[in-house]
Amino acid sequence: MEKKWWKEAVVYEIYTKSFCDSDGDGLGDLKGVMSKLPMLKELGIDCIWFTPIYKSPQVDNGYDVADYQDIEPDYGTLDDFKKLLDTAHSMGIKIIMDMVLNHSSDEHYWFQESRKSKDNPYRNYYIWQPPKADGSEPNNWGNRFREGNGSAWEFDELTGEYYLHQYSKKMPDLNWEYKPLREEIYKMLNWWLDMGVDGFRLDIFTRLKKPAGFPDATVASSPELDRNGFVLDNNMCTNVEGIHEILHEINRNVFGIRPCMTVGEGSGVTYENALTFVKAEREEIDMVYHFQLAARKRPPFTVESFRKIQSEWMKVIENNGWAVQYLSNHDSQRHVSRYGNDKEFRKESAKALATLTLTCPGTPFLYQGEEIGMVNVEYDDISDYNCCYTIGDYHSMIANGKTKEEAMAFIVPRSRDNARTPYQWNGSENAGFTTGKPWIKVNPKYTDINLEKDMKDPDSIFAYYKKAIALRKEHPAIIEGNLKFHLENDPQIIMYTRECEKETLLVIVNLSDNNAKLDIPEEIKSNKWERLITNRENIAPSLDGNTDVLPWNVEVYKKL
Ligand code: GLC
Repeated sequence: MEKKWWKEAVVYEIYTKSFCDSDGDGLGDLKGVMSKLPMLKELGIDCIWFTPIYKSPQVDNGYDVADYQDIEPDYGTLDDFKKLLDTAHSMGIKIIMDMVLNHSSDEHYWFQESRKSKDNPYRNYYIWQPPKADGSEPNNWGNRFREGNGSAWEFDELTGEYYLHQYSKKMPDLNWEYKPLREEIYKMLNWWLDMGVDGFRLDIFTRLKKPAGFPDATVASSPELDRNGFVLDNNMCTNVEGIHEILHEINRNVFGIRPCMTVGEGSGVTYENALTFVKAEREEIDMVYHFQLAARKRPPFTVESFRKIQSEWMKVIENNGWAVQYLSNHDSQRHVSRYGNDKEFRKESAKALATLTLTCPGTPFLYQGEEIGMVNVEYDDISDYNCCYTIGDYHSMIANGKTKEEAMAFIVPRSRDNARTPYQWNGSENAGFTTGKPWIKVNPKYTDINLEKDMKDPDSIFAYYKKAIALRKEHPAIIEGNLKFHLENDPQIIMYTRECEKETLLVIVNLSDNNAKLDIPEEIKSNKWERLITNRENIAPSLDGNTDVLPWNVEVYKKL
């Protein structure tokens, strides 16, 4: 395995708006992040991924970029960012930027110019099409935000043409067919690398290439995908032939010729096509995070699906690719609520799930707040929600005759806002996030769940994350070891070994609310094991024979 810093790193995602507010305006900011670097250092992370902090009208909380080379004034200035970058580097923490290359904001200078006239030099930076003979949209594609009549095309009076927007009409898609646009993007990416950033997270990178001729999508198979007759067809603009040429070209102009790590948001990427993106020889990107394990809209993983998915992705690593481990991010629910038990076993299940993320093969991506076991929120009025998908889903359900209660019951567990409530620093007003009025309500559970409390408790979730992160640094098997599952038919227990030339580690997790009977396999029984970490200090399952494992118990051992 070729050695790379990002294979050994633990990445921590910061959603700046909800992290820490230094000036009392209710929005997190860069000075707030700066003040918390010591805490991140203590946790032991190696790299920060910032969700977009560029200048933006914030229609999609920064994923609508108005200037790729400036910082959103609510978050600070470019100087603040440079100071933060230098300070983080001096502490041994790297920084990667979120790059939104599928679309920009309609307030970006390029789009302002592009819409002015058909012969404007920036016209082809975006995707313009004439109306059909009857004046209607160029095809039946739907937008993700459920905006307007549902179409992904917006008519612009000034030039009498439609432009494409897969998301909001305020987020027009960029035209990757057009060389001057591509070159401008390469310049911009290199500018960030010149400043010293360490890499990029690539937003929805599989959608950069659109199908030639913009064919109609086939009629929606589920109400979820129907937009008043327009169709949200995930396959239509995902992994279209030609996507690899685009990625390879970016690599040859930026990623591959500079020290830089890249992680793509891999919608439509499974272990079957992963190597076409991440096999080192292809010179595209380093790794993708996929949606097979942690997916907001799919049923939670089971012990069976966990074993299958991890084994499949291990093959990607064995074939000179790489993998990502994560269970939640800014687009999902809190994972202790979704996959764990955020009531009677919050602490135990948060630690068990952390162990999976931190000891399975690949680079772990943690999301702010998981290290203190932050949980979902349950607000009962739509006005307390901010996420554009949540609001779109709610109103479309009401328009389709659902009651308020039915619509809320649908959105509450699914909303991306579950992950976007402010970080809970302490038990004081607004959880210590701001002295002003927070832009989104603080989770009322903050008096019980907060960092200050966790820092005082040697048995806290935070303390456990520190230990589990430190374990990665001490044990090469976690980075480079193979992966072998044991008890492959067990319905509750996940048991695996990670073995490299130097050592063998054993991980046991009871992924359930009930005691489990553990029938230790011969190959484990016949060896001696030293316990490295656990979330149940006082009781250890015996590795000599049959034993009981408590709910959400996790144990990590090393072979002696
Ligand atoms: C990605 C981001 C998400 C955003 C979308 C559009 O999925 O993670 O937050 O809404 O892209 O840019």
